[in-house]
Amino acid sequence: MPVTAKKLSNVLFEDQQPAPDDNRAELIEGLSRKQKKINPKYFYDEQGSELFEQITQQSEYYPTRTEKSILSTHASEIASYCGEDCILIEPGSGSSEKVRLLLDEIQPAAYVPLDISADFLYQAAQKLGQEFPWLNIHAICADFSDQWQARTELKGGRRVVFYPGSTIGNMEPEVAQEFLSNLREWIGHDGSVLIGVDLHKPEHLLNAAYNDAQGVTAEFNLNVLNSMNNLVNADFDPDDFSHRAFYNNDLNRIEMHLVSKDSQTVNIDGGLIQFDKGETLHTESSYKYTLASFTALSNAAGFTLEKSWLDEDELFSVHYLTISEELK
Ligand code: SAH
Ligand code: AVI
Repeated sequence: MPVTAKKLSNVLFEDQQPAPDDNRAELIEGLSRKQKKINPKYFYDEQGSELFEQITQQSEYYPTRTEKSILSTHASEIASYCGEDCILIEPGSGSSEKVRLLLDEIQPAAYVPLDISADFLYQAAQKLGQEFPWLNIHAICADFSDQWQARTELKGGRRVVFYPGSTIGNMEPEVAQEFLSNLREWIGHDGSVLIGVDLHKPEHLLNAAYNDAQGVTAEFNLNVLNSMNNLVNADFDPDDFSHRAFYNNDLNRIEMHLVSKDSQTVNIDGGLIQFDKGETLHTESSYKYTLASFTALSNAAGFTLEKSWLDEDELFSVHYLTISEELK
């Protein structure tokens, strides 16, 4: 795994991107299943990261504005839970927009944005570094499901993982539990997690949020084909697929698919993948939780839920978790 580091004033950037062979093997495995599926991390080439930012501006996409309002309303109380001089680690940091709402209150010793989208992360970290010249930023391009390791020591106090956006909802619940459980190793016995989780709500609100009228979510979904073409030398044609997103009531999740408009064969680096007309590629799930189901998940992962903050319509939740007493 290549590891390079560049020092830019208050911003350090480390590249620990997964090797192309790892991507190829993972993609081919998923595309060879009966229900074809991919890891949603493949959405996030530079264009995908830009499109996600545009999704967050759509009126139908309630999660971002709702979570931002929860964070700004409760910033001072959240900071008192996080404590002084913590190392704030954000897996899947994207534009680092939300952390801006907390930085002045938390005053962390270091902020560690970690994201798979290299160029986007680099630019977001530079911009943040200019806006917050006092902030020590240690950006890492890596897969947050891998065992990443900061190349230089992270200086500061206890570790707090900031995991907003309900990115946890993009994992199957058993994977989410394992991910949370693995976080305990990142943060040590005295660390904590500040996590944003999307909640159950009337189905029409969910369906609208993933089928916005401007078609930005459709563009985001289709762009994963360009992202795969560039990453593994494939020849997907986005014009040959259409966007489908719907709430699956039985599994409490939004499912996003790409529907093949015709029967077709796609070449991935010499390997052929066959699609029937109407067959789908499952590109993303976005699980929605209740307070009870998220509490159960975090307890099973070895955490105690210390505090929850919700908006008044109970659309979205932010939770502060610490490691369960018996595991400390
Ligand atoms: N935290 C931001 C962005 C959420 S979008 C917010 O709340 O608005 C999800 C982010 O996670 C994207 O920036 C994407 O590039 C990143 N991401 C998705 N899967 C990832 C993975 N496996 N490893 C690292 N980053 C990932
Ligand atoms: C990043 N993640 C939590 C978003 C979600 O809502 O599941 C990604 C997204 N997919 C479509 N719209 C937004």
